[in-house]
Amino acid sequence: MRPADHGAPYSEYFAKLNRELKARGPMRPVLLIDLDRLDHNIDVVMQSVRRAGKHLRLVEKSLPSPQLLDYIARRAGTRRLMSFHQPFLSHDAERFPDADLLLGKPLPVRSAQLFYENHRGTFNPTTQLQWLLDTPERLQQYLQLAQGLNTRLRINIELDVGLHRGGVQDQATLGRMLTLIGANPRHLEFAGFMGYDPFVGMGVPGILGSPEELFAKVMTRYNGFVDYARRQHATLWRPGLTLNTAGSPSYRMHENEQLSSEVSVGTAMLKPTHYDLPSLSEHQPAAYIASPVLKSTGAVKIPALDGKSALLSWWDVNQRETFFIYGGNWMAEFESPKGLQSNGLYGRSSNQEMVNGSSTAGLKVDDQVFLRPTQTESVLLQFGDLLAVRDGRIVENWSVYS
Ligand SMILES: Cc1ncc(COP(=O)(O)O)c(C=O)c1O
Repeated sequence: MRPADHGAPYSEYFAKLNRELKARGPMRPVLLIDLDRLDHNIDVVMQSVRRAGKHLRLVEKSLPSPQLLDYIARRAGTRRLMSFHQPFLSHDAERFPDADLLLGKPLPVRSAQLFYENHRGTFNPTTQLQWLLDTPERLQQYLQLAQGLNTRLRINIELDVGLHRGGVQDQATLGRMLTLIGANPRHLEFAGFMGYDPFVGMGVPGILGSPEELFAKVMTRYNGFVDYARRQHATLWRPGLTLNTAGSPSYRMHENEQLSSEVSVGTAMLKPTHYDLPSLSEHQPAAYIASPVLKSTGAVKIPALDGKSALLSWWDVNQRETFFIYGGNWMAEFESPKGLQSNGLYGRSSNQEMVNGSSTAGLKVDDQVFLRPTQTESVLLQFGDLLAVRDGRIVENWSVYS
């Protein structure tokens, strides 16, 4: 096999980060956020959101660090967050007292009760929070909670616009929910709809329809629900309702419609590998894992094979060098130096992972191996503080949600 690496071990971009981390980093696995690239991604999103005449809602679970969210929210000029987890929600209400919070999934009513029990501070749930609900049965449970707390809950209804991950599928069910809300104005308030459509931009086999065809179907469904609510429950309909849609893969498509009032975007701000999608071609990768090389041990040696291991490095030049890095086994792909790979035969390790490369990889002990996360929401939580870098220098330490 040919070496997968060509020439210098790092591009100038990673050479600079390697120097910085060796001089000033903690020399353990870290998660880097590149602020120059993040700025670019925020601006790309905001240009689209402005063209569309909508608002931006940041998906908190995909950017799970309060300072990271705050940084993006300030540059984008938005107070809107989408939360998916009661402990994070409680934290948001305290950390961002003027936020506008919408749940991104229906939580068990007990979670909502815990939110109210824990809630402190000036954030006002009756005007700043929308619970996302999916069935008349759950709405009934939330009504009882509101009655018990003697408060009013704002209700956003989850629509199934084609994802088939639950949510309201037909007008009869929607009608039952809106009727219940309308009958209990002291305890329930209709706040809007949420219709999530990532499949529009994720790429499905062509036979199932082009992105444009899928998008048209999504909007036909969304429009049908809006039309029904406006006509059949006119007293609940008012300007300023939250008509939420999209996610990172599909937000650009929504420049083509005027029904929704806001798009949700999270992961596209950092662009991990699973978001290398045509719809996000203007976005740049802005999150990397960096981990130091602890050991460099030469040609690959597999315990059970002993002497026969030499065959592996003879056959595959990308197994001529062996490194053990600090940690490993992350949901991530090797990025730099080029041509590195983990070794399935030796086994993966979260403690000291074997990494193989060709002799041109040029890596030495204490050099950094850079990886790109495949997704952000769980990977960002695995390294302690995020390290924000600008122009190759570490400029901030940002804590993550716990
Ligand atoms: C309801 C909802 N909206 C939007 C998103 C988009 O998040 P992201 O932009 O991070 O893909 C998600 C992701 O799971 C979601 O569940």
